[in-house]
Amino acid sequence: MQKTRFTLIALATFALAGSAVAQQAPIVIKFSHVVANDTPKGKGAERFKELAEKLTNGRVKVEVYPNSTLYKDKEEMEALQLGAVQMLAPSVSKFGPLGAKEFEVFDLPYIFPSKAVLYRVTEGPIGKELFQKLESKGITGLAYWDNGFKVMTANRPMHAPADFKGLKMRIQSSKVLDAQMRTLGANPQMLAFSEVYQAMQTGVVDGGENTPSNVYTQKMHEVQKHLTVSDHGYIGYAVIVNKKFWDGLPADIRTQLEEAMRGATKYANSISQIDNDAALEAIKKSGKTTVYTLSDKEKAEWRKALLPVQKEMESRIGKNLIQAVNKEAAALGYK
Ligand code: LMR
Repeated sequence: MQKTRFTLIALATFALAGSAVAQQAPIVIKFSHVVANDTPKGKGAERFKELAEKLTNGRVKVEVYPNSTLYKDKEEMEALQLGAVQMLAPSVSKFGPLGAKEFEVFDLPYIFPSKAVLYRVTEGPIGKELFQKLESKGITGLAYWDNGFKVMTANRPMHAPADFKGLKMRIQSSKVLDAQMRTLGANPQMLAFSEVYQAMQTGVVDGGENTPSNVYTQKMHEVQKHLTVSDHGYIGYAVIVNKKFWDGLPADIRTQLEEAMRGATKYANSISQIDNDAALEAIKKSGKTTVYTLSDKEKAEWRKALLPVQKEMESRIGKNLIQAVNKEAAALGYK
């Protein structure tokens, strides 16, 4: 009898403790980003949320804040370091102000002759080394997500490098992009992504460069008369977390989140090209902007005009890093 009562009490205590665990508030990951939901990054973030919540059985809750609703470009980096948000996926062109200027290697004009070369960089030792640079800033890099090659937009046709002379062109916070625009004879203007549409609409800037999916979802094509498909540069993302938060997670949860991130990365990278192709078609169909694709001859001219930026930026990014990326291209047969 005594024994039964003891067992009952023990069972009740155990059940209480169990329900307390079950009712424990979930770990919340605030994932802030600046683009629309209907973009490769927006969809990647939603897929991560779905997988993370499923794989952790609800022990983790992911709150996605798209379209700069929580923070703009510069603020979101600060918020991550302070722990006000746990996860971001800034464009790789936005790590210079943080002191990780090597990321600007991704901005060098014509450095990636194809996506295959890009993946060798992001999935290989170069991508890992770049993530290492973030650790001392209190940030852990989890994955690279693809967006795509950039197009140029403005209110004037842009067929030759000389067409950029005097244009005020919006850029992200990258010294390489600044050098690129200056080399074209344009005046670079650094602006947060959330400010670009209005700046174009009111003439604060004459043009900019972005991927078709960003141009279309932000309606930039409605306030830009011309768009040139030039493939001169690339936009992709580094998915990053607050290091202290990440290291402090229970090991089993971290493993589940890593798996969720692998799934989201695979998905985001599988849709990036499809989304950008569809956005370019939609821009053409809108009839609001004239879409021009450079001929091979014109592209060669742009390349010739912009390649000196690689040399000019060696002292900022590191000659070895630039050479290492070019070696990945050579390994796939590009000269
Ligand atoms: C931009 O600032 O132009 C874009 O890179 C924004 C983004 O995250 O794609």
